[in-house]
Amino acid sequence: MEVDGVRSFYDPNEGSCKADHDLSPEELDAAFALVRAILPRDSVTQGHSLRVMDYALALARRAKLPRKLLAHLVFGSLLHDCGKGGVSDYILQKPGTLSSDQMRLMGLHSERGHTITRCVGPLETASLFIRQHHERWDGQGYPDGLSEEEIHICSRIITIVDVFDAMTSHRPYRKSMPVQAAMGVMRSGRGSRFDPELTDTFLAMLREKMVNARKGGVSFFRPWFTPTLIAAEATLPFRQALRHSLSGPATQLTVVASGEEVVDHVASGPVEMIMVGETLSDMTGAECLHMSRELAPRAVRLMLCPFNRLEALVSHREWAGIYRYVLVPWNDRQLNELVTEALVWRQICSAVRGDDGRTNASGGKVTPP
Ligand SMILES: [Fe+2]
Repeated sequence: MEVDGVRSFYDPNEGSCKADHDLSPEELDAAFALVRAILPRDSVTQGHSLRVMDYALALARRAKLPRKLLAHLVFGSLLHDCGKGGVSDYILQKPGTLSSDQMRLMGLHSERGHTITRCVGPLETASLFIRQHHERWDGQGYPDGLSEEEIHICSRIITIVDVFDAMTSHRPYRKSMPVQAAMGVMRSGRGSRFDPELTDTFLAMLREKMVNARKGGVSFFRPWFTPTLIAAEATLPFRQALRHSLSGPATQLTVVASGEEVVDHVASGPVEMIMVGETLSDMTGAECLHMSRELAPRAVRLMLCPFNRLEALVSHREWAGIYRYVLVPWNDRQLNELVTEALVWRQICSAVRGDDGRTNASGGKVTPP
């Protein structure tokens, strides 16, 4: 099959892709590099992509999808709308219904997203999900009019969670829909727009989430996977600044002063990210990170570092297992981007290993790049 003069491995009649394989650490690195480059930076689109990834992984795990598909699903859900870069803002942000010509232009984004991603080897499978995320169970979707199981199960998952998130989130041009009303729309689309079984599973998950959110006194929109982040700094003003700066990403944040407190937290439960200053109240940040490696080998480790100390501290990188240095004084936006990026990486690693995203069990090959 030729598309835009480039041979494609995609066959719309196949409903699957030859690259449904485990991604090697090198392939994950390459795919993640592209995600970093093309994931939209504006908070509305990025927030939508991250929520779609969170919902899609949760639904895939509940539907017991094979582990080898989960990393592809992460990439496909994060990048499902990457083709919208070629659609004008006038159409993207237009309130109300689109004209048929505007619909046609808008409809090109799934093919465009497929074109952008399909030539990157590790994203080949994900590119199929991107192409198919507006197909419908009844065959009335686009671009290929596939139906039922001709549509890859990961694409069917992305369709469901994409529509739910789009309805329940604010956009500059319209208000969000209440969750119950959105669930009603999902229910009415089961068997026509959406895979009926997956829709039932997702609706059951949403009902459980509502009950748990009410019981726990937390927001319904708290992600399924809420990573735990421990930050440590010796001085109070730095701890206060960290607490303020890190209030953006949806994490369970704990800010402490000593390395011992960090180690206690890491020992008592799963921790996805540890961020320390150069000096803590009882040990150096590097010593603390080194100690945490044994207890939480897969946690992402970040070190806050004044520019004039960077050279000295970089020598600890391997010993302390540091993913990235954060220059002090930090910029809130950049710090949050870095935390978000590291947490996406953490999600990818846990998807590859097939755990639930909350365990630190050893045995996987993937380490932060
Ligand atoms: Fe889309």
